[in-house]
Amino acid sequence: MALPLTETAAPPPEDPELEQLEIDLLLEAVYRRYGFDFRQYAVASLKRRLWRRLAAERVGTISELQARLLHDPRCMERLLLDLSINVTSMFRDPTFYLAFREKVVPLLRTYPFTRIWCAGCSTGEEVYSLAILLEEEGVYERTRIYATDINENVLTTAREGVFPLASMQQYTENYIRSGGKHDFSRYYVAAYDGAQFPHSLTENVVFAQHNLAMDRSFNDFNVIICRNVMIYFDRALQDRVHGLFHDSLEMFGILALGHKESLAFTSHAGSYDEIDPAERIYRKIR
Ligand SMILES: C[S@@+](CC[C@H](N)C(=O)[O-])C[C@H]1O[C@@H](n2cnc3c(N)ncnc32)[C@H](O)[C@@H]1O
Repeated sequence: MALPLTETAAPPPEDPELEQLEIDLLLEAVYRRYGFDFRQYAVASLKRRLWRRLAAERVGTISELQARLLHDPRCMERLLLDLSINVTSMFRDPTFYLAFREKVVPLLRTYPFTRIWCAGCSTGEEVYSLAILLEEEGVYERTRIYATDINENVLTTAREGVFPLASMQQYTENYIRSGGKHDFSRYYVAAYDGAQFPHSLTENVVFAQHNLAMDRSFNDFNVIICRNVMIYFDRALQDRVHGLFHDSLEMFGILALGHKESLAFTSHAGSYDEIDPAERIYRKIR
């Protein structure tokens, strides 16, 4: 789901210290009023999105935005959409799926049952892609996927499994490049401008809200996939999430981060072996 980019951001203030103070207070207010913790998100992208929301709400200062947020939960919903950055697609970065197919699936074949956590799954395109891949490899039946996101709205879309028909050409190309074995059109039915994916693909999927910044682990997993999520977090929050993943992974479990993230320089780098350095797929060894 793309962000609305139509609003022009208001100019940043001339006093950076005052701006930082206002941002800190707003994030604290959001946390205490709604329980969403954005206090450790990377600063530059956070600022850009706050200023865009300021312009869209037609308010002049971050403090004014804070007052509106505190009194109007719908304003909070709009900000949540801005801050949670839900851009995604099916078979996004096809080489990731190719590596998963070739290097992770053979390991999964040796397990009687596999639990996969897909953290920050957005509107679900990643989860449907994974389900298709696992089905083609004959392991979907003995897999359960836990697909989580901070944002309940995107999970509603994910459960419905209807994605824009206009995206199918791009997704077909991605699917082929990811090592797909069939004609991609067999997986959806076109209805108006949407492509409906069958509910059989989510039979073994549990969609649930989970906040990586605040919530605890909720199971032991054989595989954790978390792509294009931690790039928005600062170093301390990244470390927290790596701790959470390490605690949630079984020994020899797989951590798949995708090429934009890395374990290098984190406090958990020494706990994993690299399975695919380019796609940042790791195996827990201690
Ligand atoms: C850019 S999307 C990535 C979607 C998918 N993983 C992919 O690679 O296509 C980032 C997702 O992370 C979610 N997210 C952001 N902060 C989060 C948090 N603290 N806990 C859980 N999910 C979060 C957002 O709501 C958004 O859906």
